[in-house]
Amino acid sequence: MGEIIAIANQKGGVAKTTITHNLSVALALEKKRVLMLDLDSQASLTFCAGLKNPLDYDGKNIISILEKRPSVDIHECIYKVGADERLENYLYIIPSIIDLAQMENEMYGRTSRERILAKALSQIKDEFDYIIMDCPPQLGLMTINALSCADSVIVPCKTDYLAFRGLQQLEETIAEIKELVNPNLDVYGVVATLYQMRLKQDNEVKDMLNENYHVIATIKQAAVAKKGIIDGMSFIEFAPEHEISVTIKQIAKMIINGTIKENK
Ligand SMILES: Nc1ncnc2c1ncn2[C@@H]1O[C@H](COP(=O)(O)OP(=O)(O)OP(=O)(O)O)[C@@H](O)[C@H]1O
Ligand SMILES: [Mg+2]
Repeated sequence: MGEIIAIANQKGGVAKTTITHNLSVALALEKKRVLMLDLDSQASLTFCAGLKNPLDYDGKNIISILEKRPSVDIHECIYKVGADERLENYLYIIPSIIDLAQMENEMYGRTSRERILAKALSQIKDEFDYIIMDCPPQLGLMTINALSCADSVIVPCKTDYLAFRGLQQLEETIAEIKELVNPNLDVYGVVATLYQMRLKQDNEVKDMLNENYHVIATIKQAAVAKKGIIDGMSFIEFAPEHEISVTIKQIAKMIINGTIKENK
């Protein structure tokens, strides 16, 4: 039975998409079958994964699986990705398009609206080892759907005071979802991101994160993180030995061997 992991934080620009992409590649390189879900109408993950032309997946994307009466089979919305040939047969994506924002509005009017994604994924959960969901920067229905069907959640948070403050609202939402919809949701913890070691403020916030949350890992700010995006490549693929790649690969190993919650 596959594990569904949500990468969530309503705060924008905290590296949700970057972590979803690179962590998925790292898991796939460990020979796990991984499906990435782009739940953001900005479609950043779709672009990062190398799917550049929305016409190529028009009518067969994340919207198709959320429709009240889906007109296409969910398997037709799944695309192979990854530049590295070792990813062949291991890494896949269900892409997003801008119209997802409109779809989210329509979903508000439906019964059991927070379980729509869960219902769709139940058809394919067994076909993957991991389904990793990139959530949008809002606590709207898409994030709620993700948290309602996830087995676990990872929260990327910038080492920045305003991002730290925003975690409280997310904690409250997660607590409510656990109480009302998904009691088994496992909070793996926070990944501190975009950390700049030389900045006093970043170190102060890093300490605050450690005092208040389980910090799984800290990922430094590094220019290499942006380099492969245009070519649809993760930094795990083109800079595997870089410190930030090593950190992501460690998180992947912790997920696989089940130590992600205890590891400090
Ligand atoms: N370790 C890093 N070092 C430098 N830049 C990074 C790093 N991680 C992510 N970035 C950059 O920071 C920006 C925000 O990252 P990303 O898009 O992953 O965040 P996000 O939380 O998904 O944003 P949004 O809320 O808009 O969806 C991007 O330009 C990304 O390339
Ligand atoms: Mg994003």
